[in-house]
Amino acid sequence: MKNIAVFASGTGSNFQAIVDASESGTLEAKVTLLVCDRPGVKAIERAEKHGIPTFVFSSKEYRNKEAFETEILKKLKEAKAEFIALAGYMRLIGPTLLSQFQGKMVNIHPSLLPAFPGKDAIGQALEAGVSETGVTVHFVDNGMDTGPIIEQATVPVDENDTAEILQQKIHKIEHELYPKVIQDVLHTPTEKGEFV
Ligand code: GAR
Repeated sequence: MKNIAVFASGTGSNFQAIVDASESGTLEAKVTLLVCDRPGVKAIERAEKHGIPTFVFSSKEYRNKEAFETEILKKLKEAKAEFIALAGYMRLIGPTLLSQFQGKMVNIHPSLLPAFPGKDAIGQALEAGVSETGVTVHFVDNGMDTGPIIEQATVPVDENDTAEILQQKIHKIEHELYPKVIQDVLHTPTEKGEFV
């Protein structure tokens, strides 16, 4: 069984979907750590409810990104985490973490990348007036939502969709797609053998 860490900054509904899939066995991995950069958010409460260890930090308390990512690496080691799933973690990953987890870190983003990267992808899609948007799961590299795409799913935008309605539709797709893609990535053998 592989150990994975999930990073979140907010509500943590995707974190919850991963935990549920792990507990039901459809995702053959154990969530051994939640990393969260916003004290007090709902994701933390969800982790506690499931007995999952958390590392909650405030970036202001560190000199720079290298300093808090060094601390995160320590916690990942303690949790024996072999793989990272970013689930609404609203920060760019720096070289300290990336060098240790390149190819072993995925992200979910609420648009059909390369369209609408960065913040408020749902607002960007509504503003652009597109008739279709979606969800992308991709490997993480040093850019903003730029790494190699693993899988995408489309979500239709109806004329009357508000940001709230569109977010609900996107979340529903995310919660199905993300645990499935993580399962595939972790358990699809590569030429070198096992993925992780
Ligand atoms: C998700 O919709 C995720 O795709 C998005 O944040 C939301 C987090 O929701 N991520 C990004 O925008 C990353 N650039 P959640 O906390 O309920 O899982």
